[in-house]
Amino acid sequence: MGKLWDGRFGKATDAAVDGFNSSIGFDRRLFRQDIRGSVAHARMLAKVGVLPSADADAIEAGLLGILADLETGALAFDPTAEDVHMFVEAVLTERVGEAGKRLHTGRSRNDQVALDLRLYLMDECGVISRQLETLVSTLSRLAREHLGTVMPGYTHLQRAQPVTFAHHLGAYIQMFRRDHGRLADCAMRMDVSPLGSGALAGTPYPLDRAAVAETLGLSGITANSLDGVSDRDFAIELAAALSIVMVHLSRFSEEIVLWSSQEFGFVELDDAYSTGSSIMPQKKNPDVAELTRGKSGRVFGSLVALLTVMKGLPLAYNKDMQEDKEAIFDAVDTVEACLVPFTGMVATMTVKREAMRRAAAGGFTNATDLADYLVRKGLPFRSAHEVSGKTVKYCLAAGTSLEDLSLDEFLSFSPLFAEDVYEALSLDRCVMGRALPGGPAPSAVEKMLDETDLWLAAL
Ligand code: ARG
Repeated sequence: MGKLWDGRFGKATDAAVDGFNSSIGFDRRLFRQDIRGSVAHARMLAKVGVLPSADADAIEAGLLGILADLETGALAFDPTAEDVHMFVEAVLTERVGEAGKRLHTGRSRNDQVALDLRLYLMDECGVISRQLETLVSTLSRLAREHLGTVMPGYTHLQRAQPVTFAHHLGAYIQMFRRDHGRLADCAMRMDVSPLGSGALAGTPYPLDRAAVAETLGLSGITANSLDGVSDRDFAIELAAALSIVMVHLSRFSEEIVLWSSQEFGFVELDDAYSTGSSIMPQKKNPDVAELTRGKSGRVFGSLVALLTVMKGLPLAYNKDMQEDKEAIFDAVDTVEACLVPFTGMVATMTVKREAMRRAAAGGFTNATDLADYLVRKGLPFRSAHEVSGKTVKYCLAAGTSLEDLSLDEFLSFSPLFAEDVYEALSLDRCVMGRALPGGPAPSAVEKMLDETDLWLAAL
Protein backbone atom coordinates (compact mmCIF):
# COMPACT_ATOMS: atom_id res chain seq x y z
CA MET A 1 0.00 0.00 0.00
CA GLY A 2 1.43 3.41 -1.03
CA LYS A 3 1.90 5.99 1.73
CA LEU A 4 -0.80 8.63 2.10
CA TRP A 5 1.93 11.16 2.75
CA ASP A 6 4.57 10.21 0.15
CA GLY A 7 4.14 13.37 -2.00
CA ARG A 8 7.26 15.09 -0.71
CA PHE A 9 9.52 12.03 -0.58
CA GLY A 10 12.08 10.94 -3.14
CA LYS A 11 12.25 7.28 -2.18
CA ALA A 12 10.51 4.63 -0.18
CA THR A 13 11.17 4.19 3.50
CA ASP A 14 13.56 1.44 4.48
CA ALA A 15 11.79 -1.78 5.34
CA ALA A 16 13.25 -1.64 8.84
CA VAL A 17 11.75 1.82 9.29
CA ASP A 18 8.35 0.66 8.10
CA GLY A 19 8.26 -2.08 10.66
CA PHE A 20 9.64 0.13 13.39
CA ASN A 21 7.22 2.95 12.69
CA SER A 22 4.10 0.88 12.28
CA SER A 23 1.58 0.72 15.10
CA ILE A 24 -1.18 -1.24 13.38
CA GLY A 25 -0.14 -4.36 15.25
CA PHE A 26 -1.52 -2.84 18.43
CA ASP A 27 -3.65 0.18 17.50
CA ARG A 28 -5.94 -1.93 15.31
CA ARG A 29 -8.09 -2.37 18.38
CA LEU A 30 -9.11 1.29 17.97
CA PHE A 31 -10.93 0.65 14.67
CA ARG A 32 -14.43 1.05 16.07
CA GLN A 33 -13.60 4.36 17.73
CA ASP A 34 -11.68 5.52 14.66
CA ILE A 35 -14.65 4.87 12.42
CA ARG A 36 -17.11 6.43 14.87
CA GLY A 37 -14.97 9.56 14.98
CA SER A 38 -14.62 9.71 11.21
CA VAL A 39 -18.35 9.33 10.61
CA ALA A 40 -19.06 12.18 13.05
CA HIS A 41 -16.35 14.32 11.43
CA ALA A 42 -17.67 13.71 7.90
CA ARG A 43 -21.26 14.47 8.86
CA MET A 44 -20.19 17.71 10.45
CA LEU A 45 -18.08 18.66 7.41
CA ALA A 46 -21.21 18.32 5.28
CA LYS A 47 -23.31 20.26 7.76
CA VAL A 48 -20.97 23.25 7.74
CA GLY A 49 -20.69 23.13 3.94
CA VAL A 50 -17.05 22.00 3.72
CA LEU A 51 -18.00 18.71 2.10
CA PRO A 52 -20.79 18.00 -0.42
CA SER A 53 -23.52 15.92 1.21
CA ALA A 54 -23.10 13.23 -1.43
CA ASP A 55 -19.45 12.82 -0.40
CA ALA A 56 -20.33 12.66 3.27
CA ASP A 57 -22.95 10.01 2.51
CA ALA A 58 -20.45 7.99 0.47
CA ILE A 59 -17.87 8.29 3.27
CA GLU A 60 -20.36 7.25 5.93
CA ALA A 61 -21.60 4.26 3.92
CA GLY A 62 -18.02 3.29 3.10
CA LEU A 63 -16.90 3.53 6.72
CA LEU A 64 -19.86 1.54 7.99
CA GLY A 65 -19.08 -1.11 5.38
CA ILE A 66 -15.47 -1.24 6.58
CA LEU A 67 -16.66 -1.50 10.19
CA ALA A 68 -18.97 -4.40 9.34
CA ASP A 69 -16.27 -6.17 7.34
CA LEU A 70 -13.68 -5.76 10.09
CA GLU A 71 -16.18 -7.10 12.63
CA THR A 72 -16.92 -10.21 10.55
CA GLY A 73 -13.36 -10.69 9.42
CA ALA A 74 -14.31 -10.20 5.77
CA LEU A 75 -11.70 -7.42 5.76
CA ALA A 76 -8.32 -8.18 7.30
CA PHE A 77 -5.95 -5.58 8.72
CA ASP A 78 -2.97 -4.96 6.50
CA PRO A 79 0.00 -5.61 8.76
CA THR A 80 2.17 -3.35 6.61
CA ALA A 81 -0.09 -0.32 7.08
CA GLU A 82 1.39 2.47 9.17
CA ASP A 83 -1.45 2.60 11.66
CA VAL A 84 -5.16 1.95 12.01
CA HIS A 85 -6.04 5.50 10.90
CA MET A 86 -4.09 5.22 7.63
CA PHE A 87 -5.44 1.75 7.04
CA VAL A 88 -9.09 2.72 7.39
CA GLU A 89 -8.63 5.83 5.24
CA ALA A 90 -6.80 3.90 2.52
CA VAL A 91 -9.46 1.19 2.37
CA LEU A 92 -12.15 3.85 2.30
CA THR A 93 -10.54 5.56 -0.67
CA GLU A 94 -10.16 2.23 -2.42
CA ARG A 95 -13.85 1.58 -1.89
CA VAL A 96 -15.47 4.97 -2.46
CA GLY A 97 -12.89 6.82 -4.55
CA GLU A 98 -12.51 10.64 -4.48
CA ALA A 99 -14.88 11.18 -1.57
CA GLY A 100 -12.61 9.10 0.64
CA LYS A 101 -9.77 11.50 -0.08
CA ARG A 102 -11.84 14.35 1.36
CA LEU A 103 -12.39 12.77 4.79
CA HIS A 104 -9.17 14.10 6.27
CA THR A 105 -10.15 17.74 5.56
CA GLY A 106 -9.70 19.82 8.71
CA ARG A 107 -8.28 16.92 10.65
CA SER A 108 -4.91 15.43 11.55
CA ARG A 109 -3.98 12.03 12.84
CA ASN A 110 -2.85 13.89 15.93
CA ASP A 111 -6.33 14.97 16.96
CA GLN A 112 -7.76 11.77 15.49
CA VAL A 113 -5.66 9.45 17.64
CA ALA A 114 -6.26 11.59 20.72
CA LEU A 115 -9.99 11.19 20.14
CA ASP A 116 -9.83 7.47 19.41
CA LEU A 117 -7.86 6.77 22.55
CA ARG A 118 -10.23 8.82 24.71
CA LEU A 119 -13.27 7.02 23.29
CA TYR A 120 -11.65 3.62 23.71
CA LEU A 121 -10.50 4.21 27.26
CA MET A 122 -13.86 5.67 28.29
CA ASP A 123 -15.46 2.40 27.17
CA GLU A 124 -12.89 0.41 29.12
CA CYS A 125 -13.47 2.52 32.23
CA GLY A 126 -17.09 1.38 31.92
CA VAL A 127 -16.12 -2.28 31.55
CA ILE A 128 -13.81 -2.18 34.57
CA SER A 129 -16.36 -0.26 36.63
CA ARG A 130 -18.95 -2.96 35.95
CA GLN A 131 -16.42 -5.63 36.98
CA LEU A 132 -15.68 -3.73 40.20
CA GLU A 133 -19.42 -3.51 40.90
CA THR A 134 -19.72 -7.28 40.53
CA LEU A 135 -16.82 -7.74 42.91
CA VAL A 136 -18.29 -5.34 45.46
CA SER A 137 -21.70 -7.01 45.35
CA THR A 138 -20.04 -10.43 45.71
CA LEU A 139 -18.14 -9.19 48.76
CA SER A 140 -21.25 -7.60 50.22
CA ARG A 141 -23.21 -10.84 49.88
CA LEU A 142 -20.38 -12.87 51.41
CA ALA A 143 -20.00 -10.36 54.24
CA ARG A 144 -23.69 -10.65 55.15
CA GLU A 145 -23.16 -14.37 55.74
CA HIS A 146 -20.28 -13.62 58.09
CA LEU A 147 -21.45 -10.74 60.27
CA GLY A 148 -20.84 -12.94 63.30
CA THR A 149 -17.78 -14.86 62.05
CA VAL A 150 -15.10 -13.79 64.50
CA MET A 151 -11.53 -13.75 63.22
CA PRO A 152 -8.33 -12.17 64.46
CA GLY A 153 -7.55 -8.73 63.14
CA TYR A 154 -3.81 -8.24 62.64
CA THR A 155 -1.21 -5.54 62.85
CA HIS A 156 2.36 -6.44 61.85
CA LEU A 157 0.76 -9.79 60.93
CA GLN A 158 0.55 -10.45 64.67
CA ARG A 159 -2.87 -11.21 66.12
CA ALA A 160 -4.15 -7.93 67.46
CA GLN A 161 -7.86 -7.65 68.23
CA PRO A 162 -10.88 -9.69 67.25
CA VAL A 163 -12.89 -8.50 64.27
CA THR A 164 -15.27 -10.36 61.99
CA PHE A 165 -14.76 -11.75 58.52
CA ALA A 166 -17.54 -9.42 57.36
CA HIS A 167 -15.64 -6.47 58.76
CA HIS A 168 -12.45 -7.58 57.05
CA LEU A 169 -14.27 -7.91 53.72
CA GLY A 170 -15.80 -4.50 54.38
CA ALA A 171 -12.34 -2.97 54.18
CA TYR A 172 -11.94 -4.31 50.64
CA ILE A 173 -15.44 -3.14 49.74
CA GLN A 174 -14.35 0.39 50.64
CA MET A 175 -11.14 0.08 48.60
CA PHE A 176 -12.94 -1.13 45.50
CA ARG A 177 -15.58 1.56 45.88
CA ARG A 178 -12.85 4.19 45.93
CA ASP A 179 -11.38 2.58 42.81
CA HIS A 180 -14.77 2.85 41.17
CA GLY A 181 -14.87 6.53 42.06
CA ARG A 182 -11.39 7.09 40.65
CA LEU A 183 -12.42 5.52 37.34
CA ALA A 184 -15.51 7.72 37.16
CA ASP A 185 -13.31 10.72 37.82
CA CYS A 186 -10.89 9.67 35.08
CA ALA A 187 -13.68 9.07 32.59
CA MET A 188 -15.09 12.49 33.37
CA ARG A 189 -11.86 14.18 32.29
CA MET A 190 -11.60 11.97 29.18
CA ASP A 191 -15.05 13.00 28.11
CA VAL A 192 -14.07 15.83 25.70
CA SER A 193 -13.38 15.88 21.98
CA PRO A 194 -9.98 17.06 20.75
CA LEU A 195 -11.17 17.03 17.08
CA GLY A 196 -10.61 20.45 15.59
CA SER A 197 -7.19 20.75 17.21
CA GLY A 198 -5.75 19.66 13.86
CA ALA A 199 -2.08 18.78 13.88
CA LEU A 200 -1.46 21.31 16.65
CA ALA A 201 -2.74 24.72 15.50
CA GLY A 202 -6.41 24.17 14.85
CA THR A 203 -7.80 24.47 11.33
CA PRO A 204 -9.13 27.28 9.13
CA TYR A 205 -12.28 25.37 8.22
CA PRO A 206 -15.43 26.47 10.05
CA LEU A 207 -15.74 23.17 11.91
CA ASP A 208 -18.52 22.75 14.43
CA ARG A 209 -16.48 21.11 17.15
CA ALA A 210 -19.33 21.00 19.61
CA ALA A 211 -21.60 19.21 17.13
CA VAL A 212 -18.96 16.49 16.64
CA ALA A 213 -18.63 16.09 20.39
CA GLU A 214 -22.38 15.85 20.72
CA THR A 215 -22.68 13.25 17.95
CA LEU A 216 -20.03 11.21 19.75
CA GLY A 217 -21.85 11.53 23.07
CA LEU A 218 -19.00 13.52 24.60
CA SER A 219 -19.77 16.31 27.02
CA GLY A 220 -17.46 18.97 25.65
CA ILE A 221 -14.44 19.95 23.58
CA THR A 222 -10.80 20.57 24.52
CA ALA A 223 -9.96 24.23 25.04
CA ASN A 224 -6.47 24.54 23.53
CA SER A 225 -5.34 22.95 20.27
CA LEU A 226 -1.77 22.30 21.47
CA ASP A 227 -3.07 20.63 24.61
CA GLY A 228 -5.73 18.81 22.61
CA VAL A 229 -3.12 16.81 20.69
CA SER A 230 -0.37 16.54 23.29
CA ASP A 231 -2.35 15.68 26.41
CA ARG A 232 -2.12 12.10 27.61
CA ASP A 233 -2.98 12.88 31.22
CA PHE A 234 -6.11 10.84 30.80
CA ALA A 235 -4.07 7.71 30.01
CA ILE A 236 -1.68 8.38 32.88
CA GLU A 237 -4.55 8.98 35.27
CA LEU A 238 -6.19 5.76 34.20
CA ALA A 239 -2.93 3.83 34.60
CA ALA A 240 -2.61 5.33 38.09
CA ALA A 241 -6.17 4.42 39.01
CA LEU A 242 -5.64 0.92 37.63
CA SER A 243 -2.38 0.61 39.56
CA ILE A 244 -4.30 1.33 42.75
CA VAL A 245 -6.91 -1.29 41.78
CA MET A 246 -4.02 -3.74 41.43
CA VAL A 247 -2.57 -2.76 44.81
CA HIS A 248 -5.92 -3.65 46.35
CA LEU A 249 -6.29 -6.89 44.41
CA SER A 250 -2.70 -7.78 45.26
CA ARG A 251 -3.12 -7.20 49.00
CA PHE A 252 -6.32 -9.23 48.97
CA SER A 253 -4.53 -11.94 46.98
CA GLU A 254 -1.73 -12.04 49.51
CA GLU A 255 -4.27 -12.59 52.28
CA ILE A 256 -6.00 -15.33 50.33
CA VAL A 257 -2.66 -17.05 49.79
CA LEU A 258 -2.02 -16.88 53.54
CA TRP A 259 -5.55 -17.85 54.55
CA SER A 260 -5.61 -20.86 52.25
CA SER A 261 -2.31 -22.18 53.65
CA GLN A 262 -2.43 -25.06 56.09
CA GLU A 263 -0.88 -22.76 58.68
CA PHE A 264 -3.92 -20.45 58.64
CA GLY A 265 -6.63 -22.69 57.20
CA PHE A 266 -9.15 -19.81 57.20
CA VAL A 267 -10.48 -20.52 53.71
CA GLU A 268 -10.46 -23.32 51.23
CA LEU A 269 -10.49 -22.38 47.59
CA ASP A 270 -12.92 -24.14 45.30
CA ASP A 271 -11.35 -26.82 43.11
CA ALA A 272 -12.44 -24.82 40.07
CA TYR A 273 -10.28 -21.92 41.23
CA SER A 274 -7.16 -23.82 42.30
CA THR A 275 -4.48 -25.74 40.53
CA GLY A 276 -2.36 -28.78 41.22
CA SER A 277 1.31 -29.62 41.06
CA SER A 278 2.88 -31.68 38.32
CA ILE A 279 4.98 -33.54 40.88
CA MET A 280 3.40 -33.25 44.35
CA PRO A 281 0.06 -35.04 44.23
CA GLN A 282 -1.30 -33.48 47.43
CA LYS A 283 -0.88 -29.85 46.34
CA LYS A 284 -3.73 -27.42 45.86
CA ASN A 285 -2.33 -24.07 44.88
CA PRO A 286 -3.89 -20.59 44.96
CA ASP A 287 -2.65 -19.69 41.47
CA VAL A 288 -5.41 -17.19 40.74
CA ALA A 289 -4.44 -15.13 43.78
CA GLU A 290 -0.74 -15.47 43.07
CA LEU A 291 -1.07 -14.49 39.42
CA THR A 292 -3.19 -11.51 40.35
CA ARG A 293 -0.56 -10.46 42.88
CA GLY A 294 2.15 -10.96 40.25
CA LYS A 295 0.35 -9.13 37.48
CA SER A 296 0.18 -5.97 39.57
CA GLY A 297 3.79 -5.38 38.47
CA ARG A 298 2.82 -5.05 34.81
CA VAL A 299 0.24 -2.40 35.58
CA PHE A 300 2.65 -0.37 37.74
CA GLY A 301 5.14 -0.76 34.89
CA SER A 302 2.65 0.74 32.44
CA LEU A 303 2.17 3.75 34.69
CA VAL A 304 5.91 4.34 34.91
CA ALA A 305 6.27 3.81 31.14
CA LEU A 306 3.60 6.41 30.39
CA LEU A 307 5.03 8.95 32.82
CA THR A 308 8.48 8.43 31.34
CA VAL A 309 7.31 8.68 27.72
CA MET A 310 5.60 11.99 28.43
CA LYS A 311 7.91 13.73 30.83
CA GLY A 312 10.39 15.26 28.38
CA LEU A 313 8.18 15.94 25.38
CA PRO A 314 8.06 19.43 23.98
CA LEU A 315 4.63 20.55 22.79
CA ALA A 316 2.81 19.39 20.82
CA TYR A 317 2.60 15.89 19.26
CA ASN A 318 5.74 13.76 19.13
CA LYS A 319 5.96 10.25 17.77
CA ASP A 320 7.08 9.08 21.20
CA MET A 321 3.41 9.28 22.06
CA GLN A 322 2.65 6.25 19.92
CA GLU A 323 4.26 4.35 22.80
CA ASP A 324 1.30 5.26 25.02
CA LYS A 325 -0.91 2.58 23.53
CA GLU A 326 0.72 -0.72 24.38
CA ALA A 327 1.27 0.49 27.93
CA ILE A 328 -2.28 1.59 28.63
CA PHE A 329 -3.80 -1.32 26.66
CA ASP A 330 -1.80 -3.80 28.68
CA ALA A 331 -2.85 -2.11 31.92
CA VAL A 332 -6.52 -2.27 30.94
CA ASP A 333 -6.28 -5.85 29.67
CA THR A 334 -4.47 -7.00 32.79
CA VAL A 335 -6.95 -5.48 35.23
CA GLU A 336 -9.88 -6.93 33.28
CA ALA A 337 -8.18 -10.32 33.10
CA CYS A 338 -7.63 -10.33 36.88
CA LEU A 339 -11.03 -9.10 38.04
CA VAL A 340 -13.09 -11.90 36.51
CA PRO A 341 -11.31 -14.97 37.96
CA PHE A 342 -10.56 -13.13 41.20
CA THR A 343 -14.25 -12.44 41.78
CA GLY A 344 -15.10 -16.06 40.98
CA MET A 345 -12.45 -17.28 43.39
CA VAL A 346 -13.81 -15.16 46.25
CA ALA A 347 -17.43 -16.06 45.47
CA THR A 348 -16.74 -19.80 45.62
CA MET A 349 -14.24 -20.15 48.46
CA THR A 350 -15.29 -21.95 51.64
CA VAL A 351 -14.88 -19.90 54.78
CA LYS A 352 -13.76 -21.92 57.81
CA ARG A 353 -15.55 -20.16 60.64
CA GLU A 354 -14.20 -22.44 63.34
CA ALA A 355 -10.57 -21.98 62.31
CA MET A 356 -11.02 -18.23 62.29
CA ARG A 357 -12.62 -18.25 65.74
CA ARG A 358 -9.92 -20.55 67.11
CA ALA A 359 -7.22 -18.19 65.86
CA ALA A 360 -9.04 -15.22 67.38
CA ALA A 361 -9.26 -17.07 70.69
CA GLY A 362 -5.50 -17.55 70.81
CA GLY A 363 -2.91 -14.81 70.83
CA PHE A 364 -4.54 -12.66 73.53
CA THR A 365 -6.64 -10.65 71.08
CA ASN A 366 -8.81 -9.66 74.05
CA ALA A 367 -5.95 -8.09 76.04
CA THR A 368 -7.03 -4.59 75.00
CA ASP A 369 -10.54 -5.39 76.17
CA LEU A 370 -9.09 -6.43 79.51
CA ALA A 371 -7.50 -2.99 79.80
CA ASP A 372 -10.74 -1.32 78.71
CA TYR A 373 -12.56 -3.33 81.41
CA LEU A 374 -10.27 -1.84 84.07
CA VAL A 375 -10.77 1.64 82.59
CA ARG A 376 -14.52 1.19 83.03
CA LYS A 377 -13.77 0.33 86.68
CA GLY A 378 -11.98 3.65 87.06
CA LEU A 379 -8.31 2.90 86.32
CA PRO A 380 -6.47 5.31 83.97
CA PHE A 381 -5.83 3.65 80.58
CA ARG A 382 -2.01 3.67 80.91
CA SER A 383 -2.19 1.82 84.23
CA ALA A 384 -4.83 -0.53 82.87
CA HIS A 385 -2.56 -1.26 79.89
CA GLU A 386 0.22 -2.21 82.29
CA VAL A 387 -1.97 -4.47 84.42
CA SER A 388 -3.28 -6.20 81.30
CA GLY A 389 0.28 -6.60 79.99
CA LYS A 390 1.42 -8.19 83.24
CA THR A 391 -1.56 -10.52 83.20
CA VAL A 392 -0.68 -11.58 79.65
CA LYS A 393 2.92 -12.18 80.70
CA TYR A 394 1.68 -14.39 83.52
CA CYS A 395 -0.54 -16.34 81.11
CA LEU A 396 2.33 -16.79 78.66
CA ALA A 397 4.50 -18.29 81.40
CA ALA A 398 1.64 -20.48 82.61
CA GLY A 399 0.69 -21.54 79.09
CA THR A 400 -2.89 -20.39 79.50
CA SER A 401 -5.16 -17.66 78.23
CA LEU A 402 -6.83 -14.70 79.92
CA GLU A 403 -10.32 -16.13 80.09
CA ASP A 404 -9.00 -19.31 81.72
CA LEU A 405 -7.51 -17.52 84.76
CA SER A 406 -9.30 -17.89 88.09
CA LEU A 407 -10.77 -14.80 89.71
CA ASP A 408 -8.10 -15.09 92.43
CA GLU A 409 -5.41 -14.99 89.80
CA PHE A 410 -7.01 -11.87 88.29
CA LEU A 411 -7.26 -10.27 91.72
CA SER A 412 -3.54 -10.75 92.24
CA PHE A 413 -3.05 -8.20 89.43
CA SER A 414 -5.72 -5.67 90.46
CA PRO A 415 -8.41 -5.46 93.12
CA LEU A 416 -10.76 -4.01 90.50
CA PHE A 417 -11.37 -7.38 88.84
CA ALA A 418 -14.70 -9.07 89.53
CA GLU A 419 -16.77 -11.94 88.18
CA ASP A 420 -17.93 -9.82 85.22
CA VAL A 421 -14.39 -9.89 83.75
CA TYR A 422 -15.18 -13.21 82.02
CA GLU A 423 -18.08 -11.68 80.17
CA ALA A 424 -15.87 -8.72 79.16
CA LEU A 425 -13.29 -11.11 77.73
CA SER A 426 -15.63 -13.14 75.58
CA LEU A 427 -14.75 -12.73 71.90
CA ASP A 428 -18.31 -11.96 70.93
CA ARG A 429 -18.54 -9.26 73.58
CA CYS A 430 -15.24 -7.77 72.41
CA VAL A 431 -16.56 -7.51 68.87
CA MET A 432 -20.07 -6.39 69.89
CA GLY A 433 -18.56 -3.67 72.04
CA ARG A 434 -17.08 -1.91 69.00
CA ALA A 435 -20.30 -0.67 67.52
CA LEU A 436 -19.17 2.80 66.51
CA PRO A 437 -19.75 3.68 62.85
CA GLY A 438 -17.04 1.86 60.91
CA GLY A 439 -16.46 -0.67 63.69
CA PRO A 440 -16.61 -4.48 63.55
CA ALA A 441 -19.82 -5.00 65.57
CA PRO A 442 -22.37 -6.78 63.36
CA SER A 443 -24.76 -3.85 63.69
CA ALA A 444 -22.13 -1.40 62.41
CA VAL A 445 -20.98 -3.67 59.57
CA GLU A 446 -24.57 -4.28 58.54
CA LYS A 447 -25.12 -0.53 58.25
CA MET A 448 -22.03 -0.24 56.05
CA LEU A 449 -23.31 -3.09 53.87
CA ASP A 450 -26.77 -1.54 53.62
CA GLU A 451 -25.18 1.69 52.47
CA THR A 452 -23.05 -0.25 49.95
CA ASP A 453 -26.09 -2.03 48.56
CA LEU A 454 -27.90 1.31 48.19
CA TRP A 455 -24.85 2.64 46.36
CA LEU A 456 -24.86 -0.38 44.03
CA ALA A 457 -28.57 -0.05 43.39
CA ALA A 458 -28.23 3.65 42.56
CA LEU A 459 -25.49 3.19 39.93
N1 ARG B 1 0.06 6.11 15.13
C1 ARG B 1 0.21 7.42 15.64
C2 ARG B 1 0.15 7.41 17.17
O1 ARG B 1 -0.30 6.44 17.69
C3 ARG B 1 -0.87 8.30 15.13
C4 ARG B 1 -0.52 9.74 15.09
C5 ARG B 1 0.54 9.97 14.08
N2 ARG B 1 0.79 11.35 13.87
C6 ARG B 1 1.90 11.78 13.23
N3 ARG B 1 2.05 13.04 13.11
N4 ARG B 1 2.80 10.95 12.77
O2 ARG B 1 0.56 8.29 17.86
